[in-house]
Amino acid sequence: MSVKTEVLKLLEGSRDRDLSGQDIAESLGVTRAAVWKAVKSLKEEGYHVDAANNRGYRLMEDSDVLSVEGIRLHLPEKYNDREIVVCKCIDSTNMEVKRRALDGAGEGLVVLAEEQTAGRGRLGRSFYSPSGTGIYMSLLFCPSPEISQDVVLVTTAASVAVCRAIRKVLGVEPEIKWVNDVYLEGRKICGILTEAVSDFESGRIETVVVGIGINYHSPEKGFPEELKQTAGSVCRDGENLVPRNTLAAAVIQELYELYEDLTNKSYMDDYRKWSNVLGKEVRFTSGTDWEYGTAVDIDDNGGLVIEKKNGERQVLRTGEITLRFAEKGEIT
Ligand code: BTN
Repeated sequence: MSVKTEVLKLLEGSRDRDLSGQDIAESLGVTRAAVWKAVKSLKEEGYHVDAANNRGYRLMEDSDVLSVEGIRLHLPEKYNDREIVVCKCIDSTNMEVKRRALDGAGEGLVVLAEEQTAGRGRLGRSFYSPSGTGIYMSLLFCPSPEISQDVVLVTTAASVAVCRAIRKVLGVEPEIKWVNDVYLEGRKICGILTEAVSDFESGRIETVVVGIGINYHSPEKGFPEELKQTAGSVCRDGENLVPRNTLAAAVIQELYELYEDLTNKSYMDDYRKWSNVLGKEVRFTSGTDWEYGTAVDIDDNGGLVIEKKNGERQVLRTGEITLRFAEKGEIT
């Protein structure tokens, strides 16, 4: 581990408290000059480190840079063997995980980025991923043949993991819009894109990449015109000092835990409880045509049960819905 990484680990471990340069140097077995150089480099990378001659160094409460050290600090030790990678800027974390999977990366790999230049959304859309305000991350899973059939559940599990993490870390109450969008106060704050790679001959799903994009703070320049009506962020402006690392770690932990017992579908209770579509009139499509009905249930496989005007029921496994509110128009 480099001196810079070691210093960051110590600073993250005592965030908002002073650490003397001498103590850091001694505990790492390096010179005070080496510590000073490491801190200088961290500051250049955007960390808010207060440095005063007589007090030492302090990682400020408002410092909010995604880092492996900051995430590991909040993850249980049993996950120390999982690889975590943080990139400043990348095309798409989903694509990076797929590339690394081809190179032999192991189960549980997580790639996060401060910014994506080609963030991907569902149904071929793009995902707006500006620098420094979101959490863009992808996780790699390699399902065993026994659970390979249940692997579609990982996408449902991911939205429950995001909601549980946000509730625990920030105390707010997000909802899930089928199939896997997360909403807060009527605005989309998170999208999830799950991509599976299957073996051509056996058809068995070999790897699954779960991509999660959370709008944490409002983007500096605001959301682009086409998202202004629908997108929101987890934190209100200037309201929250919980670092993104803390939430990222909580999401990772929740998803690891759900994945370990994926076929126990008890988390579907939370999915249904937090659904913002049940009992509502929806416009839906599973292909080309749009139809109307009422969302009456979500089955244990994540299928949305819709009752049409003529009483006929249809289970939607994939596709898209929009919620219809007479006074507001449609929420996409
Ligand atoms: C959607 O809302 O349509 C899904 C959006 C998924 C976005 C995330 S951000 C991290 C990961 N990398 C990507 O390119 N996409 C997913």
